[in-house]
Amino acid sequence: MKISEVQTKILQLKREKDICILAHSYQAREIIEISDFTGDSYQLSVAAGKAPHKTVVMCGVRFMAETVKILSPHKKVILANGGAGCPMAEQMDKELIGAVKKQFPDYTVVAYINTTAALKTICDVCVTSSSAVTIIDRIPNDNILFLPDCNLGAYVAAQLPHKNVKLLQGGCPIHAAVTRGDVEKAKSAHPNAVLLVHPECVPEVVRLADFTGSTSAIMDYAIKSDEREFLIGTEMSIAENLQYLCPDKRFYCLSQKLLCSNMKLTTLIDVLNCVESTSGGGEEIVLDNETIASAKICIDKMIELGG
Ligand code: 13P
Ligand code: SF4
Repeated sequence: MKISEVQTKILQLKREKDICILAHSYQAREIIEISDFTGDSYQLSVAAGKAPHKTVVMCGVRFMAETVKILSPHKKVILANGGAGCPMAEQMDKELIGAVKKQFPDYTVVAYINTTAALKTICDVCVTSSSAVTIIDRIPNDNILFLPDCNLGAYVAAQLPHKNVKLLQGGCPIHAAVTRGDVEKAKSAHPNAVLLVHPECVPEVVRLADFTGSTSAIMDYAIKSDEREFLIGTEMSIAENLQYLCPDKRFYCLSQKLLCSNMKLTTLIDVLNCVESTSGGGEEIVLDNETIASAKICIDKMIELGG
């Protein structure tokens, strides 16, 4: 079957079965084209809460599907490819952070959304890369324990010098692999390109950027900019998707290291399998009521403070 035929079949089945398809902006073009909503992790979590559909198929990674389930517990939530996890979200568990919290009793515990549902149950506020600075600024307590991404945490701390931000040694292995040397090499190959990076990159890369933001913020910046050439410092699908959207501009991936194999696991056929048989394709996200109720507190706080 041709890609366009698979897409037509998915669109027809999702309409018939009242299924909403959400796709993170790192997904492949052919998946983005059949989704009801595309965006960064914050936008997806809000869209999931508002979607009227009975079933949601998440094309992204596990923590994103868990967030949808926490916000919409009565919906059937399916992760399109059950093998798609986020290595950063798996780095810190509830037991470890429970012990760390005892050492910092006066701190507000802020969890990046790239964490498991279980870990969110013991955190105070959730943030995404697009909302972290605004939300942490609005937290009345100046003592912040930020986890798990020390690079996003360092970026927030640099924007909010009045906050006392304690960091833990976690982060995205994909973004953190990019070095200052990679930036110098890319800039000499494309001297006129504007450098846009995700705050999951290490501080010395972020400091060299012309703009730092979430996946959607990077896309918005590039689409609205009058510049013609861009070096994209986040997962390589963003450069590819931007090239489709802005054929008159030129987008270069900052480094070939920026490939998230987990985000690449989901295929159009996985999505077809999910909409053909919602009991057969993908993996249904099942969370117990107690986890949903406790994890929801910090996600609701994120939406309250971020809105
Ligand atoms: P966004 O919050 O920008 O969507 O990022 C999610 C992510 O996994 C980045 O690597
Ligand atoms: Fe997780 Fe990094 Fe992949 Fe994003 S790019 S899903 S943070 S491993």
